[in-house]
Amino acid sequence: MCTDNDPARIATLEAGRAPIYEPHLDTVLATARSAGRLAFTRSAGEAVRAGDNIFICVGTPPRQTGEADLSAIDNVARIIATEARTPKLVIEKSTVPAQTGLQLKRALAVYGRKNGLTLRVASNPEFLREGTAVEDFMHPDRIVVGVEDEGSEKQLREIYRPILEGSRHCPVHTAACPPAPAPHMLVTSMTSSELIKHASNSFLALKISYANVLADLCERLGADVEEVTSAMGLDPRIGPQFLRAGLGFGGFCLPKDVQAFVRLAESVGVDFGLLKEAERVNRRRVGLFLDEVRRALWVVKDKQVGVLGLAFKPNTDDVRLAPAIEVIRQLAAEGVQVRASDPQAMEKARAILPDVEYVRDPYEVAKNADALLITTEWEEFRRMDWKRIRDVMARPLVLDGRNLLDPVQMKALGFEYYSVGRPDAQAKLKRRRNSAIVIQAFTALKPVLQEGHLSKTAILEARPSSRDRTKRQPLEPGNP
Ligand SMILES: NC(=O)c1ccc[n+]([C@@H]2O[C@H](COP(=O)([O-])OP(=O)(O)OC[C@H]3O[C@@H](n4cnc5c(N)ncnc54)[C@H](O)[C@@H]3O)[C@@H](O)[C@H]2O)c1
Repeated sequence: MCTDNDPARIATLEAGRAPIYEPHLDTVLATARSAGRLAFTRSAGEAVRAGDNIFICVGTPPRQTGEADLSAIDNVARIIATEARTPKLVIEKSTVPAQTGLQLKRALAVYGRKNGLTLRVASNPEFLREGTAVEDFMHPDRIVVGVEDEGSEKQLREIYRPILEGSRHCPVHTAACPPAPAPHMLVTSMTSSELIKHASNSFLALKISYANVLADLCERLGADVEEVTSAMGLDPRIGPQFLRAGLGFGGFCLPKDVQAFVRLAESVGVDFGLLKEAERVNRRRVGLFLDEVRRALWVVKDKQVGVLGLAFKPNTDDVRLAPAIEVIRQLAAEGVQVRASDPQAMEKARAILPDVEYVRDPYEVAKNADALLITTEWEEFRRMDWKRIRDVMARPLVLDGRNLLDPVQMKALGFEYYSVGRPDAQAKLKRRRNSAIVIQAFTALKPVLQEGHLSKTAILEARPSSRDRTKRQPLEPGNP
């Protein structure tokens, strides 16, 4: 039995629709409802009384100071304590700062002092990623529970038994799920469990910011950040994930969790300067990208710019703290005419930026555009017909904030193409061309070589003419 204090959300769910876009979530909802395992109610009291275990999943947004706003947690603690009629295990699923569980336990005792019920507390942070939430939930790498007594551990083991045993068929895999090791169930103290979540998210944020500073370095030194990070990622101590340079991290979790973690450390006298720097690096990403847009366009006012991608990452419609939204906001403030498209996030973006022109067909975004920006790495965008895009644009200029496309191919198609930390596309293109020329020359010279002599005329004849070379030269960056 689920409840929410937003009646519109409950109405949507009762009508059989998910209020967010998440692959496979519709199937999960429909299957569980028709099997009688899932119901929704507007009455918090009814939801509280319906079960022995209560998961708190409310939002924990950042306050102005960066600390987590725990007012929703406090609010539901009061509801649980006053509405409960039998003992409960109250499980923190929301991401909260360490020691929130201890506070929650005190709050439940204070609010429920008149009913004399035992309300135990446990922490069970959620590690799923938006965009792959269902798969991550069904196939977690770890389940962490922070408990204060054996009974709570036993109850949580029972709840997660189908996942731990792999006995529940998941909707992501139509046949059987691929064989995988059983997830680890880690039982810790409540405070460690809470810390594990913030520590994990903050570490991921560090990795992203690290890759982004590397990208800046690669741009200055003429290296390719993807060559560097993919080699780094082969080291099992480092791993390949979250090392992608681009517009930086956004969404509801990483930015707020990093801030909350920094403030938590400060509150106990620990200076987490490392994380503050990761945050600072991340805040600069959109600005650096926009500098590149301004450099490429020269004058931005009244230019038409297409934006591909609104969600903070692919396969979600979540636009909270999405870098794309900030990019559009700043461009619109500078008088740019923006037209944007996203496979899922247009409705949510419209609620934040109502004056932007949104179009469903991504090719329409490119039509007559002076520049096209890639701000979310949807697979759909990679697979587009880029020749067709080039032909409908006013100027074939692409600024790829997510390193979605191949710079060599884009240059070969005649685009002016910028990406993040890959300044050597020109050199790469030359490398690939030179090897093509060598093969061409070798093929032409083969009969001469076989005859055993090599005249200067033969070599000159085998080289492509200077006119051919000029014809193949792609547009230099910055050429209109
Ligand atoms: N989104 C993710 O991918 C993700 C992953 C892991 C952890 N988390 C954590 O889970 C929590 C929720 O995140 P979200 O993305 O689902 O946020 P959300 O804002 O989409 O959902 C929170 C819900 O809580 C409801 N709510 C707020 N106050 C309430 C109250 N007093 N009573 C009843 N309902 C109330 C809101 O109406 C909303 O529907 C956060 O702490 C977040 O950090 C989120």
